[in-house]
Amino acid sequence: MSSDEHWNAYHDIRRAVLFEARELIGYDANHPDDRRDGHFPLLLLLENTPVGAARLDLMDDAAAWVRTVAISAECQGKGYGRTLMAGLEKLASQHGVKRLLVNAARDAVGFYGALGWTVVEAGGETPVLTKELRTGPQW
Ligand SMILES: CC(C)(COP(=O)(O)OP(=O)(O)OC[C@H]1O[C@@H](n2cnc3c(N)ncnc32)[C@H](O)[C@@H]1OP(=O)(O)O)[C@@H](O)C(=O)NCCC(=O)NCCS
Repeated sequence: MSSDEHWNAYHDIRRAVLFEARELIGYDANHPDDRRDGHFPLLLLLENTPVGAARLDLMDDAAAWVRTVAISAECQGKGYGRTLMAGLEKLASQHGVKRLLVNAARDAVGFYGALGWTVVEAGGETPVLTKELRTGPQW
């Protein structure tokens, strides 16, 4: 797949899962946050077929925000979300990230819980969860 095809797949998955499936409009495929320095758009490929997307946004203080985690509807519940997050965590660790944060959709809190995240702010539309990462040498 070309880089353009990867970008299209990244936007298609996020638009379908995070907007259309929630009856939201206004998805912006040209949002500058997807191209900012320190922001990493990620696409999960299964034998060259795109099945998931997410973005890792590096911050100061060895922290990073996880944004727009989405697995295609027909591929959900098969472990791909776990795979996508494992890759994201590895990338984050390689960049010295020690603490991940996410604004989770309410119905995705259980997903993050299964992956070892904990709630730091339960109130509001999108609870904030965090996960500490191990960095440096593994003993
Ligand atoms: C949430 C989402 C990313 C999870 O990806 P997935 O591929 O369906 O999840 P997986 O199959 O990898 O599941 C991993 C673990 O999380 C659990 N899990 C997945 N979704 C869950 C949910 N909504 N509630 C509770 N647990 C959940 C699974 O049971 C599994 O646990 P196990 O390995 O201990 O059995 C995906 O379902 C999705 O895109 N949902 C719609 C968009 C969304 O809510 N995104 C999150 C925005 S913050």
